[in-house]
Amino acid sequence: MPGKIMNNLGSLPVVFVSGKGSVLTDVDGKEYIDFVSGIGVNCLGHAHPALVKAVSEQAARQIHVSNYYNSDVGLAFSDALLARTKMDTVFFGNSGAEANEAAIKLARKYGATLGKKEIVTLEKSFHGRTVATLAATGQEKFHPAHFAPYPAGFRTIPANDFASLAQAFDEKTSALMLECVQGEGGVNLIDRKWAMAAAEAARKVGALVIADEVQTGVGRTGTYLASEQLGIEPDVVTLAKGIAGGVPMGACLARGAASDVFVAGDHQSTFGGNPLACAAGLAVLGELDRPGFLAKVAEKGDYIRSKVAAWKLPNVLEVRGRGLMIGIDVSGRGSSKATAADIQLECLRRGVCISTAGAQTLRFLPPLVITMEEIDTGLEILRDVLA
Ligand SMILES: Cc1ncc(COP(=O)(O)O)c(C=O)c1O
Repeated sequence: MPGKIMNNLGSLPVVFVSGKGSVLTDVDGKEYIDFVSGIGVNCLGHAHPALVKAVSEQAARQIHVSNYYNSDVGLAFSDALLARTKMDTVFFGNSGAEANEAAIKLARKYGATLGKKEIVTLEKSFHGRTVATLAATGQEKFHPAHFAPYPAGFRTIPANDFASLAQAFDEKTSALMLECVQGEGGVNLIDRKWAMAAAEAARKVGALVIADEVQTGVGRTGTYLASEQLGIEPDVVTLAKGIAGGVPMGACLARGAASDVFVAGDHQSTFGGNPLACAAGLAVLGELDRPGFLAKVAEKGDYIRSKVAAWKLPNVLEVRGRGLMIGIDVSGRGSSKATAADIQLECLRRGVCISTAGAQTLRFLPPLVITMEEIDTGLEILRDVLA
């Protein structure tokens, strides 16, 4: 592929020019069913009329004013988002990693006067690509020596392990930080009872509970926040990905004692919460709040999972997920040694975009607006590839 983009992504061999709904079109006019939605970002699909209208009207009015000033649309979006999530305050940035950096700084400042400096995260977690969020990430492959030194102050515990909870937190713990479904780590489900027990144990030592909902938030799992399903009422929630439907935005939301930890000068971001992103965020929120929208996300997820399971293919080991965040474990056993990346490439060749999470897990993150016809067309192709 020509071009001088740094070779840090391993991009797939396709160049897209446009999209409509859950269908992408490449430079040659070939169409693809989109089961990726820009890694869980294009929640309203491509060229959604409400999003296009909101962004183009806002671009014509005002794109950016900086964080010196408020904008009318910025205030409107923060009010709407806080009402929707029942949180008290919000910091806007531009990405998931930046939202998590804000949460980490918030937790450190919160714990500073109490001598609490340690953030506990989960094994197999993923929290971003900045050095602090890499340090928070509970996967050794994200800690190569060439990026060292990493910031200290992070420790991991195993998810869903009740026995280890007794020793998980102590007076030095400032926060427990967890994904409600681990995305990059393999679409791993977090058990509701364990999450509630972990949150309770963390709070017992005076630690905050931070839900990294960068991937699970904004309706992805069938509720606006996935933490609603885990019943943990986090003190801090981070969002990004789908929050503004594809316009870059991240958010760190806080409630209660966590909500006024930052004072002026503690944390800022030039582009964060600019009017263009906030207008997009309002449009997304408006669509997700339409009656029945989120229930349909849950239904579509159930449909995909049950359909794939019903294929009973020998190389499909497990199908799991919540809502439209779905993982399929595929085996390289028997006559097929195919990895998830091989399957992803063959699907792309046949007109389906699908993602991976680890060597043997296929990951679905389709637009939340995907239709049943688009699901069926894409699944038919995936079935052929797997078979
Ligand atoms: C749970 C989680 N946290 C943080 C991030 C980092 O987000 P970004 O790539 O927008 O920095 C991701 C990205 O995949 C994620 O899935």
